[in-house]
Amino acid sequence: MQNFSKCSLAIYSLALTCLLFFGGCSSQFFDRNNLNSKQYAESDIQMVVTENKEATDIAIDILEAGGNAFDAAVATSFALSVVRPHSTGIGGGGFFLFKESGDINPQFLDAREKAPRKTQKNSLDQVSIKDSAHKGALVGVPGLTKGLEDIYKKYGSGKLSWSELIEPSIELANSGFPVYPHLSEAIKLATEKAGFSLEPKLIKKGYFINQELAQTLRAISEHGSAALHEGKIAKAIVKATRKHGGVLDENDLINYRAVSRKPASFPYKGFKIHTAPLPSSAGIVLGQILKLRDLQLSKLSNRNPSTELHLLAESMSMAFKERALKLGDPSFTLIDQYNLLSDSHIKKLGRKISLEETKMEKTLSEVEPLPTSTTHFSIIDREGNVVSSTQSINLYFGSGILAESTGIFLNNTLDDFSRPKNKANSFGLVGRNPNYPGPNKIPLSSMSPTIVTANGDPFLVLGSPGGPRIISAVAQTLINRLDYNLNLKDSVAQSRIHKQWQPPTLFLEKGGFPKEVIRSLSSRGQQIKESAYLVGNVSAIGVESNGKLIGVADPRRNGKASSRRPH
Ligand code: GLY
Repeated sequence: MQNFSKCSLAIYSLALTCLLFFGGCSSQFFDRNNLNSKQYAESDIQMVVTENKEATDIAIDILEAGGNAFDAAVATSFALSVVRPHSTGIGGGGFFLFKESGDINPQFLDAREKAPRKTQKNSLDQVSIKDSAHKGALVGVPGLTKGLEDIYKKYGSGKLSWSELIEPSIELANSGFPVYPHLSEAIKLATEKAGFSLEPKLIKKGYFINQELAQTLRAISEHGSAALHEGKIAKAIVKATRKHGGVLDENDLINYRAVSRKPASFPYKGFKIHTAPLPSSAGIVLGQILKLRDLQLSKLSNRNPSTELHLLAESMSMAFKERALKLGDPSFTLIDQYNLLSDSHIKKLGRKISLEETKMEKTLSEVEPLPTSTTHFSIIDREGNVVSSTQSINLYFGSGILAESTGIFLNNTLDDFSRPKNKANSFGLVGRNPNYPGPNKIPLSSMSPTIVTANGDPFLVLGSPGGPRIISAVAQTLINRLDYNLNLKDSVAQSRIHKQWQPPTLFLEKGGFPKEVIRSLSSRGQQIKESAYLVGNVSAIGVESNGKLIGVADPRRNGKASSRRPH
């Protein structure tokens, strides 16, 4: 499928140099050179990659029972709601990018949380994630269950009932699962940084058991999304947010609808990249990073890893600046997405990037970005249907508010709105009017579920958690695979960088870059921070030219790629 020109061969050998160069540096946090047996799979039939073994196994069971990728996506979303209570859940929302077999273009469903109708522009100015009396104001109207119901009704195979898709998750919530390292780290961080303590009743003898969530899932299994958006559970959600200063009411829950949107799509290296459109910043920021980087590289006579990393960092910073100044919910602000990705606009931005030194930016936000929750999964079924979905409750355990008797952790996704006077959010991001809060408005996201096609056929399916780092993780995986032509395993495993304009810091994954490269970046004025907080955790599926599917779960965490249930 790849057309090997002399030029791409040259780039490939440069990339191999980078690979040996960087790959030789051992990271103290994970082994990027050796994926364990769960993190890599090959198949001629179907593939699922999620961040948890239980969620992958449930999706595979659904595929093997005759379900399609959409059925498996519904089942694994509910499973992830149970097994990643710190990352996602029915108290949050998500994006679905998917391609039906035989269609050329993917479709997109936005089931992200939105602001309650009583939210005002200044409602969140004084609200902090730690302030127990007011943090309910950061809870957006949950959307995940509505989105899943839409997916099931419109795209499910019809061979499995809604209840059959939820049943395994009910069992999982009832019987529990061992507290694994990432969950344990999230519990520690949520306690330290967001100041809440997890209900001790949820952890028994090293197991996380949420029987109230099992009952809620049972109600959803019997009555559909109405069980969450109306009646007893809706009342409990409203009561919990109001107790913590929120304005959410029952009408907000009743009136919530997931929205179909046109995916953001642009060409890159002979492929077509499809990703999340506004209100995700993914389409524009990812497109600008890749195009700006390409433009800068085309001016170089001599490529080397340090220069390439510097130019990537500057492209990221420039694109995140555009995000901060111009992007928000497109239902509230007219945003010329076409112009923002046009060659003339990219050239204009490119003129501000220097090969020799970083553009010195005034420090507007010094917030040390918090690790985000969020999760991503990728699925391809035997018919060729593809689902790429990123889901979230924002920070670890969202707001930390557990709606009484429901087992549901409520999100704090409205922290993704910007506030005046450059008040940074929990990721250190600042923004302007297009992303200020408002009634029924959706906060700007970085979630980037992505599908790459070659002549209309799936070539790569991927996404990541990580707040703004999601875009950097996806961009670098795409560059590794589509520009450097690395195999998928190495494309995902390579060390990553992240620069988001504010704070004007270049984050490097600790232990992932040689000292000479760090020195060279510093000499260009980059303010470097080597960080133990890794850049994303990609769940990816690649399609080889012979049709073989390759599943890769990022070695940064302990996900699972699989094509079959082990017998
Ligand atoms: N909540 C993180 C994001 O959507 O970007």
